[in-house]
Amino acid sequence: MKVVVIQGPNLNMLGMREQNIYGSMKLADIHAQMEGVAKQNNVEIEFFQSNLEGEIVDRLQECLGDTDGIIINPAAYTHTSIAIRDAIAAIQIPTVEVHLSNIYQREEFRHKSVTAPVCAGQIAGFGPMSYHLGMMSILQIMSEVAAMREAKQAQANLQS
Ligand code: DQA
Repeated sequence: MKVVVIQGPNLNMLGMREQNIYGSMKLADIHAQMEGVAKQNNVEIEFFQSNLEGEIVDRLQECLGDTDGIIINPAAYTHTSIAIRDAIAAIQIPTVEVHLSNIYQREEFRHKSVTAPVCAGQIAGFGPMSYHLGMMSILQIMSEVAAMREAKQAQANLQS
């Protein structure tokens, strides 16, 4: 099973960017933690960060066929990108949206996520732990999907 983690604009600057909001942990350190959890669960994991909307859309589309779950922090595009929303809806791969900060406690323009409605769920406000919770959620969803697929296959085998 494979998880792809997609990070939006300015998240490459974690650790130096607005530390009072996002903390001091670097993106590489967050990814290292996620990699450990993936290993423990025998799951392949891949990371992608881009500051460009179209590249994020391309990476989402590339998930088709080889990816079982996606964790995405669309960053500022959360609040604006119909293109990213449409890509998530198009590929039909379980996706969990993650934010370090509690976007609902912040400026009004951050209160709306255009991407969350096409995701399985959203986790926001726990700092780097949001990614860990995102990981727990996607692992659970992926194992439920796999169990459902196996049950369907078993039923099909019985009928044939
Ligand atoms: C963010 C919240 C967004 O509003 C902001 O534009 C970001 C980071 C978060 O993780 O808290 O870049 O997605």
